[in-house]
Amino acid sequence: MRLIKSIPQMIKYAKAVQKKGKVIGLVPTMGFLHAGHLSLIDIAKRSCDIVVVSIFVNPTQFGPKEDFKKYPRNLARDLKLLRRMGVDIVFCPSAQEMYPKGFQTKITVPKLAKKLCGISRPHHFAGVVTVVLKLFNIVLPDIAVFGEKDYQQQLIIKQMAVDLNLDVKILTGKIVRERNGLAMSSRNKYLSNLNQERAARLYAALSFGKKLAEQGEKSPEHLRRSILAHLKGKQINIEYCEVLNADTLESLPRLKGKVLIALAARIDGVRLIDNIVVSLGRT
Ligand code: PAJ
Repeated sequence: MRLIKSIPQMIKYAKAVQKKGKVIGLVPTMGFLHAGHLSLIDIAKRSCDIVVVSIFVNPTQFGPKEDFKKYPRNLARDLKLLRRMGVDIVFCPSAQEMYPKGFQTKITVPKLAKKLCGISRPHHFAGVVTVVLKLFNIVLPDIAVFGEKDYQQQLIIKQMAVDLNLDVKILTGKIVRERNGLAMSSRNKYLSNLNQERAARLYAALSFGKKLAEQGEKSPEHLRRSILAHLKGKQINIEYCEVLNADTLESLPRLKGKVLIALAARIDGVRLIDNIVVSLGRT
């Protein structure tokens, strides 16, 4: 496994590998890796010759009052895990090199980015999309893998790839959860054991919602309210609970087709997101 920190070196390596006809897979991360990240690496390994994992805590996707400074970091531990996974390249650029003085370009996917998390984090997805496009231009991947944990993020990246004719195939991996159902996240580290148990209620509520939809509930608003009622009095501060068309994030008059149930909440000040997709009939 090789650690590459400089952008020109990464581009040089990627071009050389590309010349040999090898398939490059990229798994972009912000580090502090857990089994969710590792599951994406497994997907990349299955379909690529060379697997690159990027670790970059991207400052432009954090709001001024968010946790950029205290976002958990542990490169030594991450490198150990990645070596064990058989990753070929770890790309860890510096913020100065990614955003030199005078940097000003921003990519936006405005319609998808203004829903769900975009309401409380209006600049977040422009930061994500711009850094992802930069990583694509540096690592030159044939395939890039993203998690369904950040459902809106992967939809937005797929839209960017289509809109900008990117020659990158976007694959996605299922949400990896703790045994109690809590979706794995680097931010779970901020939660006490008791709050981790509380946080697991989010998945319980999503699963409850999925069951109601599968049992024939037809009203998105009823479903939303039933899920919220399920979470009442659990010391969970709900930011949003939405039931939407899973492909477009548009609201649904009736529950049918591929439905996304998405939640964002704060527990003890820690912001958590989770979701579940339900496939229903066409009527
Ligand atoms: P990060 O939060 O580190 O997540 C990196 C990737 O891991 C994302 O695609 C995310 O959806 C996926 N992931 C996180 N938790 C997961 C889980 N429990 N199960 C499955 N996949 C999971 O998302 C980002 O970083 C950044 O926004 C990034 C895309 C790297 C751009 O800066």
